[in-house]
Amino acid sequence: MKRILSGIQPTGDLHLGNYFGAIKNWVDLQGNYECNYGVVDYHSMTMPYKADNLKKNTWQMVFQLLACGVREENLFIQSLIPEHAELTWILSCVCSYGELTRMTQFKDKTDQAKEQSKDAVVSSGLLFYPILMASDILLYHADYVPIGKDQEQHLELSRNIATRFNYIFNTEYFQHPEPLFTEIPKLLSPANPEKKMSKSLGEKHYINLFGEEKVITKQIKSAVTDSGEVSSGTMSPGVKNLFELLKACGNTEAYNYHMEQWESGSRQYGALKGDVAASIVALTAPFHLRLEELKNRESEIKDQVYESSALIRKKAQKTMDEVREITGLTTISR
Ligand code: TRP
Repeated sequence: MKRILSGIQPTGDLHLGNYFGAIKNWVDLQGNYECNYGVVDYHSMTMPYKADNLKKNTWQMVFQLLACGVREENLFIQSLIPEHAELTWILSCVCSYGELTRMTQFKDKTDQAKEQSKDAVVSSGLLFYPILMASDILLYHADYVPIGKDQEQHLELSRNIATRFNYIFNTEYFQHPEPLFTEIPKLLSPANPEKKMSKSLGEKHYINLFGEEKVITKQIKSAVTDSGEVSSGTMSPGVKNLFELLKACGNTEAYNYHMEQWESGSRQYGALKGDVAASIVALTAPFHLRLEELKNRESEIKDQVYESSALIRKKAQKTMDEVREITGLTTISR
């Protein structure tokens, strides 16, 4: 079976963009591949954070992923497998400094940190972030890596690091991971459809996958559309976003109906919004139920995730034994 590796940072609540952009695919890929999905808490240390929140958010993400249908045997918490950090060190010694400073996400996040406060410290961890990601991937000899386009450059770097490692140590040990790009609906902020749906903009700008029904409904009802007088035949981004949501939720019937209405000149968005809200609620309600069930068995579920992390760790340890051998480190077991 081909191997898959992917990761998500424990950022708190999942939103619809995360779900359609990543999690739904994670769930669908299970069964056809050997899947390893990490809640990557080491990655979350690259930007300023609070220790208590990190632990809380890590478990919250674990529970939410399970509620969405990720199987617990495929799920691990990154820092329970410290080999991720160890391989990061080794790979950092075959990756050039210049390569890292050229990463666009590093530049973006550096700017972001400086915008937030003038004396923000940009950590070397932020610079090393893509090497940590390469380690996640190479530790498990992943064939495929489901990612969004924003991570393409990082995956390319992982491939370069594999090449460099193989060249330096005269081996063919690491294979090249392939990206698995998925068709991701472009979901926009309902409150400002000029921007992407994202948590960093604030609560109004994303739809919480585990949000209460009345909150979701209210958000959709107050979503920005257009003045209703648009006659040019071009759809405003806000209206387009409502259609995208309907489609993403799989409600093609409503999609087709409202599209016909729109094309015939109707600009009454109340009914459209009603159907969008109902579709989101229908999609997410089973996740909410499942989350409640899982929370009722909290300590049992946590045990299971410790267990699955320990099993997945065995694969990482095997890789590290081999990497230590290849790179000339003293082997741990004599
Ligand atoms: N950097 C990814 C993101 O922010 C998360 C991630 C970490 C990841 N390690 C990974 C994704 C390994 C794919 C494979 O979305």
